[in-house]
Amino acid sequence: MSDIVLQIDGREIKAKEGMTLLDAAQGAGIAIPTLCQHERLDAYGACRICTVEIEARGRKNLVAACCYPVEKNLVVRTRSAKIDNVRKMILELLLAHAPESQALQELAQTYGASPARFEKESSFCILCGLCVRYCAEIKKRNAIALVDRGTRREISFIPEIASKECWECKECFPLCPTSYLQAAYFLTEGLGFPRFSESQE
Ligand code: SF4
Ligand code: FES
Repeated sequence: MSDIVLQIDGREIKAKEGMTLLDAAQGAGIAIPTLCQHERLDAYGACRICTVEIEARGRKNLVAACCYPVEKNLVVRTRSAKIDNVRKMILELLLAHAPESQALQELAQTYGASPARFEKESSFCILCGLCVRYCAEIKKRNAIALVDRGTRREISFIPEIASKECWECKECFPLCPTSYLQAAYFLTEGLGFPRFSESQE
């Protein structure tokens, strides 16, 4: 596979076809923040915190680095006032949902995001989909799903599957950027796994 040469933050970077901008940047030691990306999962593009600016054929665009494929001669900027402002806005929106998230708080400090900018809508889940995708793509269990639409969208454990599969797994817990997943599991276990204790016998 031939090398693709592009420029990231003023440096000439060699990448392989099929890599994303995030892969290429990380390979060159350039950090880009992520919230919904995992190296073992397909790109999802939900959080947009990895937004970078690209310039090609005289046109500039903001794109999600975790989804955008490397291109020959592309000029990429991973930090600028414009990019930082986008990330700040995203973080303020996410913090309205999950104000206690340590991952969000750390990023908020970097980008000067205020947790008080938007009215609190604490759902505690930022819909990154990491738990759902990990369970489906890696574990092939589908014990958890994203359900409903719009503002009602949320994660939900599937009791029939989760009551059998989750107890000895829980590999998705540390992936959650808000720690909501763990709370949701124990709540569901307590309220909605009528057959949970039976399945352990
Ligand atoms: S529960 Fe956590 S890992 Fe799952 S979608 Fe919500 S924020 Fe992401
Ligand atoms: S990390 Fe790229 S969209 Fe979430």
